[in-house]
Amino acid sequence: MEVVYLAKKARIETVVLDKCGSAPALNLADEARAIDVVHDRAKARKIFADCDAVIPANENLETLTVLTEMFKTMDVPLIFDMNAYSISSSKTRSNEFMRGVGVPLPRMWPECGFPVVVKPSGESGSVGVTRATNSDELVAGMDRVRQLNDEIVVQEFLDGPSISVEVIADGEDAVPLVTTEIFLDDGYDCKMVESPWEDETEEVEKAISDAGRRMAIDLGLRGIMDVEAIVSGGVPRILEIDARIPSQTPAAVFHSHDINIISMLTDMAINGKLPSPPKERARTAYYEHVAVDGGIMRSSGEGSFAGVRSPRIVRGLFGSDEMITDYEPGKKNWRATIINTGATACDARIKREKVLQAIIDSEGIERYDDPSPEGCI
Ligand SMILES: Nc1ncnc2c1ncn2[C@@H]1O[C@H](COP(=O)(O)OP(=O)(O)O)[C@@H](O)[C@H]1O
Ligand SMILES: [Mg+2]
Repeated sequence: MEVVYLAKKARIETVVLDKCGSAPALNLADEARAIDVVHDRAKARKIFADCDAVIPANENLETLTVLTEMFKTMDVPLIFDMNAYSISSSKTRSNEFMRGVGVPLPRMWPECGFPVVVKPSGESGSVGVTRATNSDELVAGMDRVRQLNDEIVVQEFLDGPSISVEVIADGEDAVPLVTTEIFLDDGYDCKMVESPWEDETEEVEKAISDAGRRMAIDLGLRGIMDVEAIVSGGVPRILEIDARIPSQTPAAVFHSHDINIISMLTDMAINGKLPSPPKERARTAYYEHVAVDGGIMRSSGEGSFAGVRSPRIVRGLFGSDEMITDYEPGKKNWRATIINTGATACDARIKREKVLQAIIDSEGIERYDDPSPEGCI
C-alpha cells in the first residue's frame, strides 16, 4: 500500500498485482489485477513486460523466488536483491554476517543474563517476539517459536529508543537516508514512526548510518534495506537488517524530508543513478495507525490494517495532513494510517494530539488505548 502511495506522489503510474482480490493496495492503484504470480506466471509476465520497473512488496519466499527467476530473462528491472534478502530474512544468518562486519549487536544468551528477548529467526513484523525475565518465561518463549517451526534467537533485552534507517545501494556504494524513531505496541509491532528521530544525537545517527553503509557494501546490496537498532548506553545495537522495501518509514521520510524512496529506487533501477544523501529535514512527521471498533480507538501496529477494505487517501480528514483510511461518516469499525507534520517536533506533536482528539469527539469514542511493550519505559 505504501509503495503505491509513494508512487502516486511521484506521479508514477501503478499496476498492482495481488493474489488476493481484496488486498488494500489494489484500491489505490491506477490498475488492479487479482493474479497469483506463482500460479499464473505467463499472465503476470505479460503485465510486467509493459512496465518500466517492478517492485515486490511482500515477503513470500516462493513468490520472490519465482519473480527473481522470471526477471533473469526480461529487460524490465526487478527492484529486489535475492542475495541480500536471503541473508537478511534469517536472523541467524544475518547475526553471523553482522558479527563478521563488526557492527555493535545485542549480547547473546546465556552470556547476557535476564531479561532477554526470544524471537524466531525467519519471521518478521514482530511475530513470535516475547520478553523473558526468568527461565519459565524463556521456556514458554522458546516453545512459541518452535510452534512456528522456526530457529530460536535469544538475546539481551535492550531498553532504549528503537531507531531505523534505510540504505539504498547500487552493488558498489551505499547511501544511508533518514534516521527515524519507531514506537511499538504491546505486541512489539510498530504503531508510530517519528521522522526524523527527535532525540537524535549526531554520534548515534552517524554510528547507525555508517553501520548501514558498511553492511550494504559488504552485502553487495542492489536496492534497499532497512537497519533497525535499539540505542543502549549511547550505542545503536543492531537488531536486524531487512533487504526489502520497508512499509512504514518511507512514507514518514517523504513527509519530513520531501524525499521519495520509490522515485529513488525506480530512478536507480532505470538510469543507474545512486541517490544523493538527504538534505536537512523540511519538517517533522508522525506516521501512525489507529483502529476504531465501536466506542474504542486503539493505536496499533500495521497488523490491524491488514483487514482494511477499500482504503482511500484523504487530505485534511479530522485536521490531519493526510489519512489512508476506510473511514466513512457513521461507520463503527474502521482503520486509519494518519500522517501529521509540523515545522518543529513540538508543532507536529500538538497537531497529532488535536487530530486524535477530533476523532474522539466526533466519533463518540469512549476509550482510547495506546499500548506499549510490557516492561519498557
Ligand atoms: N534485543 C532486543 N531488546 C529489546 N527489544 C527487542 C530486541 N529484539 C527485538 N526487540 C523488539 O521486538 C521487535 C521485533 O524484533 P525484530 O528483531 O525487529 O524482528 P522482526 O521485526 O523481524 O519481527 C523490535 O522492533 C523490538 O521492539
Ligand atoms: Mg523489526
